[in-house]
Amino acid sequence: MSGFAELSDSFFRSSLADLRPYEPGKPVEEVQRELGLERVIKLASNEGPFGPFPEALQALAAASGELNRYPDGGAYRLRAALAEKHGVAFEEVALGAGADGVIDCLSQAVLEAGDEIVCGWPSFPSYVIYARKAGATARTVPLRDHRYDLDALLDAVTPQTKLVYVCHPNNPTGTMNTRAEFDAFFERVPERVLTVIDQAYFEYVEQPDYPDAIEEYAKAGRRVFVLRTFSKIYGLAGLRVGYGIGAAALVSALGKTRRAFDVTADAQAAALASLDAPSELERRRAVNAEGRAALERTLREHGLPPAGPAVANFLYAEVGEDARPFFEALLRLGVIVRPLHGFGAPGAVRITVGTPEENALLGEALSRLAVADVS
Ligand SMILES: Cc1ncc(COP(=O)(O)O)c(C=O)c1O
Repeated sequence: MSGFAELSDSFFRSSLADLRPYEPGKPVEEVQRELGLERVIKLASNEGPFGPFPEALQALAAASGELNRYPDGGAYRLRAALAEKHGVAFEEVALGAGADGVIDCLSQAVLEAGDEIVCGWPSFPSYVIYARKAGATARTVPLRDHRYDLDALLDAVTPQTKLVYVCHPNNPTGTMNTRAEFDAFFERVPERVLTVIDQAYFEYVEQPDYPDAIEEYAKAGRRVFVLRTFSKIYGLAGLRVGYGIGAAALVSALGKTRRAFDVTADAQAAALASLDAPSELERRRAVNAEGRAALERTLREHGLPPAGPAVANFLYAEVGEDARPFFEALLRLGVIVRPLHGFGAPGAVRITVGTPEENALLGEALSRLAVADVS
């Protein structure tokens, strides 16, 4: 260490003492460097195999000459376009640095010590991490058959509960709940609770009984906040832009917790341009459905039946007591998957649908592991 003056633990907020920050998937370059591998494929972070839409790349090129300027802090054009797309008011659209940024702002806006959130588990860790950061308590409810158990979520609601999260489809299991299950949930959920429906993978889902929470619950007057992102099918994860649709008072409270310029000018321009490309979106959805079916077959062939039905761009498979050795063995063969300790599933991995070639490379790696196992 450099000899800087020490700071004791008590200097920091007490809610941080036991907090474990989100552990991102391993970057390709790091694995190449550490293991001296030339070809490494990353199927670890649900990014999807395609880059930004061509329209977004053009918008980025055009925006780059103006990067000496601060972004529009209010993100006027993007918010207006999203309001129009969803048929809601401008004041009902909250932007953030990714859906993750929106979850952080929401937690800051709503939660304080003594408050509670409820979410399923294993699930997306930010719900829990940001609640704890705000000093609140997270009640995590076990999944049933790898799916959110909406009745059990309701049973975990207490007078202190402010937010109930439904990750839909659930990361990491890839499963969804039906419209009928949500309808029954909304009949019972207490009025004072805000239900957050995280639809980060919305665009991938093709099942007819998968509800569009903006159309079917927000607009029907349910007390919900619906999350969407440009990180997944739109291929903009590196830029950090996502949004939530909810009541104007909620959006305005979130605006108070947001940093003034947290959605960059590039992100705004690329997201806006991406909204003009419905046919590319459709193409990606179809390619993903095929890739997911192929990946499912590959996993089954190798004795790793994935949880399902999986409806997004990733699969979840249980590999033993502790998924780390499996993860590391695949890593040495140049395939990065995601071990799920931080998501509450230490014996499972999550594998993102890649290109047909990446899927084949994963299959080869799994075959080599099986050979290594028996020899
Ligand atoms: C369920 C879920 N919600 C939110 C996010 C955050 O996405 P973003 O990149 O928009 O912050 C993710 C990302 O993996 C996710 O899986």
